[in-house]
Amino acid sequence: MSNDLLEGILEIRKYPDPVLKKVSETVTVFDSELADLVKVLFASMHVHDGVGLAAPQVGILKKVAVVEYDGKSYVLINPRVIDQKGIQEGEEGCLSFPGIYANVTRPQWVKIESQDVNGNTVTFEGEGYTARAFLHEMDHLSGKLFIDYLSNLKRNAIKKKTAKHTGGHF
Ligand code: NI
Repeated sequence: MSNDLLEGILEIRKYPDPVLKKVSETVTVFDSELADLVKVLFASMHVHDGVGLAAPQVGILKKVAVVEYDGKSYVLINPRVIDQKGIQEGEEGCLSFPGIYANVTRPQWVKIESQDVNGNTVTFEGEGYTARAFLHEMDHLSGKLFIDYLSNLKRNAIKKKTAKHTGGHF
């Protein structure tokens, strides 16, 4: 495993890191490096006690994410929603926004078409919190963040809270 990938286990990119707003590239090569990336994502997610993690959050702009909830693990590679039903509102957080939570409205149930680490097409379904996790991670792959669903007022309050101090006060 390369050093860049190992560093990814230790460091989760935090907002406003610009990498979080970028669109990830479609995965076209299904090699050992991709398998390593998936391992790093699971390891990082476990270390940081998350239910999902997307590659851009460890600084890698590839359409790869993992979700683990209710004893089930999912690998999302080039994922897309092929069906959805219902609506749910619930609290959401993100490892890139420590300590920040907000209500986000999402579909209640989704069916996802994805690829596995070998490039095979797979489909899986998620309901409730699992659906929310899939959609949150898939948004990361398009550079979309959960605060983008909030009102300007709420979003600006979060931006202020997460702003990095880059200089002194004059
Ligand atoms: Ni997130």
